[in-house]
Amino acid sequence: FEGMTIVELAKRTGVSIRHLQEIIVNVGEKVDSEFDPLSIDIAELVSMEVGVNVRRQHSDEGAVLQPRPAVVTVMGHVDHGKTSLLDALRQTSVAAKEAGGITQHLGAFVVEMPSGASITFLDTPGHAAFSAMRARGAAVTDIVVLVVAADDGVMPQTLEAMAHAQVANVPIVVAINKCDKPSADPERVRIQLGTEGLLLEDLGGDVQVVQVSAKTKLGLDKLEEALLLQAEIMDLKARIDGPSQAYVVEARLDRGRGPLATAIVKSGTLACGQYIVVGSEWGRIRSIRDMLGRATSSGRPAMPVEIEGLKGLPMAGDDVVVVDSEERARMLSNGRKKKLEKDRLLKASEERIEIEDTSE
Ligand code: GTP
Ligand code: MG
Repeated sequence: FEGMTIVELAKRTGVSIRHLQEIIVNVGEKVDSEFDPLSIDIAELVSMEVGVNVRRQHSDEGAVLQPRPAVVTVMGHVDHGKTSLLDALRQTSVAAKEAGGITQHLGAFVVEMPSGASITFLDTPGHAAFSAMRARGAAVTDIVVLVVAADDGVMPQTLEAMAHAQVANVPIVVAINKCDKPSADPERVRIQLGTEGLLLEDLGGDVQVVQVSAKTKLGLDKLEEALLLQAEIMDLKARIDGPSQAYVVEARLDRGRGPLATAIVKSGTLACGQYIVVGSEWGRIRSIRDMLGRATSSGRPAMPVEIEGLKGLPMAGDDVVVVDSEERARMLSNGRKKKLEKDRLLKASEERIEIEDTSE
């Protein structure tokens, strides 16, 4: 929607130019010519007003792209050792050593390798109830680490996680965990995954498999290597300059500091003082902290940061967009809130109709 004119917007939405102009005037904006590019905020507001769902997509055309770290989400069945594996990886991290005992309150963290390369990790729960969280995890990541316990083998949420990754078109790296256990049978896991259609490397496919133990730290270096190799193949790049986009992985209310959102920057640079709209909330960035809780002035692509300064609590999965002014931020936030409320009422009335229907 960036740089779209009223004429183009009319074509896309099927609403008359005249009506669009009226809406724009109603939200307090000037319309000089229907051939002038609209700001992305106004285009979004107008689209919402006419009932069209929009997804912001900043164009990277002509922008300078720079290599960025990979974002890796760890998924798998409940209790297969995802969190333990991340804890073990974190202990091998250069940053963790430097900082001593670190406080772990963010849903994401960065492992820095001695080579200087780094990887951003996201944890997900394996419990059956958290399917939505796994779907979101797969949608926002570059690579999925599929953790399978060597003693337990492939289980329902192993398959579910695999499906999410495949739907999102995200490459999988398999970590067969708990290989320290006497009952471990990594070969069986390989066969099970192969049977489920995963094209493992040892069978001529391109899915890497690593045997690890979060307990004894066996194979962690191999896992890091596999991830770096996968990232290299993908040649991950991002735009550093220009309007930032990020997505929320976790949000919480802090008594002293107010609403806090942990976000991962997708492109551009997020900086203190910027006005942002997050989902249907807005605010001005008061402070940005890195995953070790240190204050920093900006957040760059693939970096998890904690943002302070929002007026309300956003939701995990919400997009963070930077806007020009407080006025724009308020306007967009209001517009989105109204849209949410409208959708909610619509859904509620549909449910009511369904109930009435079945009672006949
Ligand atoms: P959810 O987040 O609930 O899905 O679980 P999880 O996958 O994060 O598993 P978690 O890391 O909490 O580990 C579950 C249990 O397995 C714990 O008791 C761990 O100590 C144990 N465990 C994890 N990794 C290993 C391992 O490599 N070897 C052994 N022997 N035990 C492990
Ligand atoms: Mg866990």
